[in-house]
Amino acid sequence: MTTRITILCENLVGQLIGSGEHGFAAFIETDQGNYLFDTGSGHSVVSNSLVLNKDLRSINTIFLSHGHYDHTGGLPEVLKMKGKVDVHAHPHIFSDRLAVLKEEGTEKKRFSGIPYKKRYLEFLGANFSFNTDFIEIEKGVFLTGEVPRRTSFEKPDPRLKIEVDGEITQDILPDDQSLILDTDKGIVLILGCAHSGIINIINHVVNKIGKGKFYAILGGTHLDFLTPEQLEESIKLLKQMEIETIGVSHCTGMRAAFRLHQEFGDRFFYGCVGSVLEV
Ligand SMILES: [Fe+2]
Ligand SMILES: [Fe+2]
Repeated sequence: MTTRITILCENLVGQLIGSGEHGFAAFIETDQGNYLFDTGSGHSVVSNSLVLNKDLRSINTIFLSHGHYDHTGGLPEVLKMKGKVDVHAHPHIFSDRLAVLKEEGTEKKRFSGIPYKKRYLEFLGANFSFNTDFIEIEKGVFLTGEVPRRTSFEKPDPRLKIEVDGEITQDILPDDQSLILDTDKGIVLILGCAHSGIINIINHVVNKIGKGKFYAILGGTHLDFLTPEQLEESIKLLKQMEIETIGVSHCTGMRAAFRLHQEFGDRFFYGCVGSVLEV
């Protein structure tokens, strides 16, 4: 399988073209068709697809990593171009989500869930398929489903909350799932925000696929927003694994990206808007 992955939406712009935004999306081209993994927050997915020459009308499937606005907010814009298309996600993506952030010395709650109703997205052409378990979508293309939280050091982000029946509690993001491409060169793992913990996700993938050779791990790792222990333990275990390339983006954060670069050297790259990984 020949595969090319282009970062379509991301916080940073790496070339002379494209726009940055808080969000993530990757355009995936394979011999068996094109896919979109996440959609960014809605500001740049269409304009970046045009300047990067990636035709959103050519995608045959959309995967959503989880229900945060910065991964799902671009869905209407994509649907307006594409029309009817299969959208794979966990059923909890429509949960009411909040982020509690410190702004000007006070705590402010901001809505951080998917900003559109399911019916509206269906009206625009989304054909939702919900999964909670590991699933093969097409030959060699898998979604992790819910990831068991097994490590002691990977904790949920305390700023992220969920509201159910008026009660606000810690959001553990059960809907967080990642995309797996099983290629001749090894597994390519694409993360949304890795809210399940990057090590938990990798262990789950190895368990389910039965292979431990990763050609690349790409996407948001959320490593800079948690404890230093989580960052250092994760890096220690990542270094023990068979990972050819690590290309981080979005919610990895600069300090964590610098640490990963220190440890992985030439095997590291920052996946900004327009970055391409060819397999
Ligand atoms: Fe995110
Ligand atoms: Fe997220």
